[in-house]
Parts: sequence; structure tokens; C-alpha cells
Amino acid sequence: MKNMEPQDITLTVNGRNHEIKVVPRRLLVDALREDLRLTGTHVGCEHGVCGACTVLVDGRPQRACLTYAIQMEGHEVATIESVDHEGRLSVLQQALHEEHGLQCWFCTPGIVMTFEAFLRQNPAPDEEAIREALSGNLCRCTGYQNIVKAIQKAAARMRPEQI
Ligand code: FES
Ligand code: FES
Repeated sequence: MKNMEPQDITLTVNGRNHEIKVVPRRLLVDALREDLRLTGTHVGCEHGVCGACTVLVDGRPQRACLTYAIQMEGHEVATIESVDHEGRLSVLQQALHEEHGLQCWFCTPGIVMTFEAFLRQNPAPDEEAIREALSGNLCRCTGYQNIVKAIQKAAARMRPEQI
């Protein structure tokens, strides 16, 4: 079928344009990892449950395993590779490190992307709001306690009065 043939698209990822050829059913997560070699975005369940594949699309968290690459033309995708600042961990990454908010780190890129967006929208979240937002990202190692502590620490450091 003609409409299933590979098509040339431009993916804008972390501020750079990439011209790639994809079949329409090519998933964004596969295009990121295999075509662009941006392997920081992980693939877990592949059906929208675990959150490991979370990236930002136009600043909002989105499951890259439920998104076709071809849908991303005209949109800005941000991956975990965009989060550090010239090799320095982001405030949230640093807090996760300090609070031992990761073990195997398989879930971590998705959590970081979810909360980079969340903390911009919610600079002073209470614990309930953090846990509600975290419910979309599964972690099999940590028990979540230290992740929550890390997010609280990052939120406190990111609030304007801390600068
Ligand atoms: S791999 Fe996408 S939500 Fe699990
Ligand atoms: S640190 Fe292992 S899954 Fe979260």
C-alpha cells in the first residue's frame, strides 16, 4: 500500500533538525533510539504503562512508545539528552543523585522528563501532587520514597527565592 511506504520527515529533537526516512508506523521511541542514536530514552512496556519512554513534546510529557515519529513533524521533541547543562546535572538530576532516587536507573530518564515539565508548572507541589504525577512512571527498585524526596529537594532549589 502506498501510504505505508517510507517517507522523508524532519524530526526536531533537542533543538536540532534531523531528516530521516520512516515508515508511517515507526514509533517515535524507535526513531529516537535507532535512527538518531539517542538511547537515553528507554523502552519498557511498549504500551504506555511504565513511563520509561517519556519525552517532552512541545514541553509536555508524552509516551514515545505510543507516538508515531511521523506525527512529530512541526513539533519540538526534547529527550533526556537535553537536560544537563554543558555536562552538569540539572537541579532535578542532582537531587536524585543526592537522595539516592535511583538504583538501576532504567526508569530514571522518564521520571526526569516528567518532572522537568511538572516542576515548571508546579514550583511548590505538595507530596500528594508529586505522588500523583509520579504514578505514571513505574520504578521497580526504589520504593519511590527517595524519588519523592529528591523531587521535593529539586522543587525547593528551583523556586525563585532560592536563586
Ligand atoms: S515503554 Fe512507553 S510507557 Fe512503557
Ligand atoms: S531505579 Fe530501577 S526501575 Fe527505577
